[in-house]
Amino acid sequence: MPAAGRVAGAVADEPLVVFTPSGRRGRFPAGTPLLAAARRLGVDLDSVCGGRGICTRCQVRVSEGEFAKHGIVSAEDHLTGLSDRERRQLATRRLKEGHRLSCQARIAGDLVADVPETSQVHRQIVRKRAAARNIRIDPLVRPMYVEVPPPDLAHPAGHLRRLKESLRQGFGVRVTEADLHAVRKLHSTLEAGGYRATAFVRDRRRLVDLRPGFRDRVFGLAVDVGSTTLAVHLCDLLSGEVLASLGRMNPQIRFGEDLMSRVSFAMMNEDGAAEMTQAVREALNELAVEAAAAAGVEPADVLEVAIAGNPVMHHLLLGLDPAPLGFAPFALATDEGTELAAADIGLGLGPAARAYVLPCIAGHVGADAAGVVLSEMPYRKKEITLIVDVGTNAELVLGNAERLLAASSPTGPAFEGAQLSCGQRAAPGVIERVRIDPVTLEPRYRVIGDERWSDEPGWDPAPSGICGSGIVEAIAELFLAGIVHPDGAIDGSLAQRSARVVPDGRTFTYVIRAGEPEIAITQNDVRQIQLAKAALYAGARLLMDRMGIDAVDRVTLAGAFGSQIDPKYALLLGMVPDCEPGRVTSAGNAAGTGARIALLNRRLRRELERRVRGIEKVETAVEPRFQEHFVDAMAIPHRSAPYAKLRAAVDLPPPPPAPAGRATRRRRSGGGARHSR
Ligand code: FES
Repeated sequence: MPAAGRVAGAVADEPLVVFTPSGRRGRFPAGTPLLAAARRLGVDLDSVCGGRGICTRCQVRVSEGEFAKHGIVSAEDHLTGLSDRERRQLATRRLKEGHRLSCQARIAGDLVADVPETSQVHRQIVRKRAAARNIRIDPLVRPMYVEVPPPDLAHPAGHLRRLKESLRQGFGVRVTEADLHAVRKLHSTLEAGGYRATAFVRDRRRLVDLRPGFRDRVFGLAVDVGSTTLAVHLCDLLSGEVLASLGRMNPQIRFGEDLMSRVSFAMMNEDGAAEMTQAVREALNELAVEAAAAAGVEPADVLEVAIAGNPVMHHLLLGLDPAPLGFAPFALATDEGTELAAADIGLGLGPAARAYVLPCIAGHVGADAAGVVLSEMPYRKKEITLIVDVGTNAELVLGNAERLLAASSPTGPAFEGAQLSCGQRAAPGVIERVRIDPVTLEPRYRVIGDERWSDEPGWDPAPSGICGSGIVEAIAELFLAGIVHPDGAIDGSLAQRSARVVPDGRTFTYVIRAGEPEIAITQNDVRQIQLAKAALYAGARLLMDRMGIDAVDRVTLAGAFGSQIDPKYALLLGMVPDCEPGRVTSAGNAAGTGARIALLNRRLRRELERRVRGIEKVETAVEPRFQEHFVDAMAIPHRSAPYAKLRAAVDLPPPPPAPAGRATRRRRSGGGARHSR
């Protein structure tokens, strides 16, 4: 709500100042610095130098003309003339033509002062994805330039006390705590800067670092610790800009491909967990240093880190025993947001850097899912969203502003291409897109890193395999072409029509690419994907049961696989419940985005912690209906769910006939969903 009318103590004939876009206004005596008026009214106007005309963050623009709404005429000469400092900043172009430094310009008459977005402390940064929310910047650490009185025999206060007083006077902050390493360097830093220094203050109360002279930048690192990939984003904490993004394979892969095998490694080897902890910390530290170098930033200037990761990654990074996450009741050592010195998890950024690890939701729904929740904010929406973060273990969040539920589902590694005949991790040269002509049954495909299709002239790459999203597409296309039946069987009778369908023992295989290497979809591949997608669907359906709903308004696919997969094929295969195809979308690396939001906005960090505590957890392992949902979801897209919204958009083959009895289905060779996570 804009503050309106008179400021306490103002008199009616004093100039009226209106700040836009906030609309805050008040009367001030002529001669009041405009920055002081803004502060008094609580206007969001930046300042790093405490009003000394150095930082140029406090720029405003005078709107000229008659403002009937406010009953005033505003003009540029209703501010005092340009100061020497403003002239100097204009010459260096740090002060824009037509702008004024609000700390230098004094009020001389009625005024409408516009605060451009670049001068706002809590500015928004626009995310590239059109449907996504923007991020509001409100970092935990801020630089504050101060000029501290030198020590004086007559006033024998210590450096820290004099610095605190300068911060109070310049920025209105009351620093109550100071990190020891910052206190240790106080004397040398103040001396080096001639008692001019930039203090880095965390949460407006803790002195965390100090540099001689004027600094107006501070940096942070958002980290996504995936079981397969590590990703870091080095950000400017004040602008929100991502300056460098780097990723690499999680070196823990050598201890086990999926989460469960890493938990097993920790259980079977005395130093197993410690080895994995060391491996991931070393890799993250290297990435952090590389990201700083890529951005041209000193590692010691990175003062804040925010980290998201699934529960096993979370525990291994923090040096917590992951073994209890391998069996019921899947007990987490801590599910709270954890704040610690970055050095404690091996990040060699400098003694001032603090790390924040996002909270976990439950034993199988980790800080990565919390990151997705922060990125997508289903708790602020009316519509019911199902968020699916697909990995070796799918993490599911369902709900809206009224209620949020979470569960995980044991999908296994098939979606990542593991345990499939030609499956590979997503990498350049691996098939990621497949189309099958329903008349000729001929395929065409595309590989990662090449925009061309295989039937285009000049196409020559020899793909080395097919990634998880490619297999999902291939099976969905086989289904649309009538080669794979709704029960998942590859139709052997088509071998007479197409050389692509070949016998393989008692079953059949569809050959996408003949020759060396041959790339094919076997009957077992289809089964593996059916098992994985049925587990995913069953988990989602359980959450819907618990919420008492039969349909969701929106499905958001997150995670590496979720961002690679074409949402249409996820729906076609029945990985997710029926929904308008246009409302099944990919959120990209939403866990990483969540880490970035937690890095850039201290209030949203607290909001996330509150929301996460309110999420109801559903443990799929002990829900009797899981198996029932799982069996029905083995069919493509589903045995009994009508998928009416999908059918309205796509011509689908009819659903398979109802089975003679569930008991026979339960004896299938592929087994049920495995809960040995
Ligand atoms: Fe820094 Fe005005 S507050 S230049």
